[in-house]
Amino acid sequence: MKLVKVKDYQEMSKKAAQIIMDQVKTKPDAVLGMATGETVIGTYEYIVKNFKQELLSFKQVSTVNLDEYIGVKRSHPTSYYYFMNEKLFKYIDIPHDHVHIPNGSGTDLQAECEEYEGIIERLGGVDLQLLGIGHNGHIGFNEPGTPFQTRTHIVKLAESTRDANARFFKTREEVPTHAITMGIETITKSRKILLLVSGKEKAPIMERLINGEVEECVPASILKLHPSVTIIADEDALSMLENDCVKVLTHD
Ligand code: GLP
Repeated sequence: MKLVKVKDYQEMSKKAAQIIMDQVKTKPDAVLGMATGETVIGTYEYIVKNFKQELLSFKQVSTVNLDEYIGVKRSHPTSYYYFMNEKLFKYIDIPHDHVHIPNGSGTDLQAECEEYEGIIERLGGVDLQLLGIGHNGHIGFNEPGTPFQTRTHIVKLAESTRDANARFFKTREEVPTHAITMGIETITKSRKILLLVSGKEKAPIMERLINGEVEECVPASILKLHPSVTIIADEDALSMLENDCVKVLTHD
């Protein structure tokens, strides 16, 4: 696990965008795993800003998103489908049929999960998966206690996750109770993983992730066993860690 310590959200976003753009430059038909949430918004903004200057094209790129709420229409502003379109896809030249996001408003959600795994397989797997982390250590929507071997599945959201995500909805009641998410095994099959962490409120989970064991009650801890994980974290997110510990993990 490589830990890159940066000053703040802006620097994190810039570095992350560069890594994603470099991936597309080296492999124009790369498969990118995308994430949602406040953490990644800045990264998408940098990509959009640099898209034209960098003479970058996403025409051959395919994307697969981590997760989607169940019961929220794609056209609704709180859906992850809407988020991805508003924050990234509508500004770049990626073909519409290269974009994959689980459909949480379909009629057969179990079939949707299986189909999603099939899509990832047919694309040849994910080259670079972008991740954020929940306060409770979740990745995608894999809540604490999810077995590490899970593939794309339906989850009941933890009440703490619903609280954390209530800021995107008009009322707490509107926050969906369930979601479809790539499983932990699906995520860790990605060839490279880029985890972004920013802000003081993520400091306790960063401390637990770095100093703790690999255990299912901290889903992100599985990343310690992956051969190619880069964490970009800002000073606030690392504020509960001893400096020495950060140095040991930092190679950049
Ligand atoms: C959400 C998403 C995750 C995201 C996480 C952190 O629930 N399902 O994919 O990484 O929570 O979100 P934020 O970046 O807003 O803190």
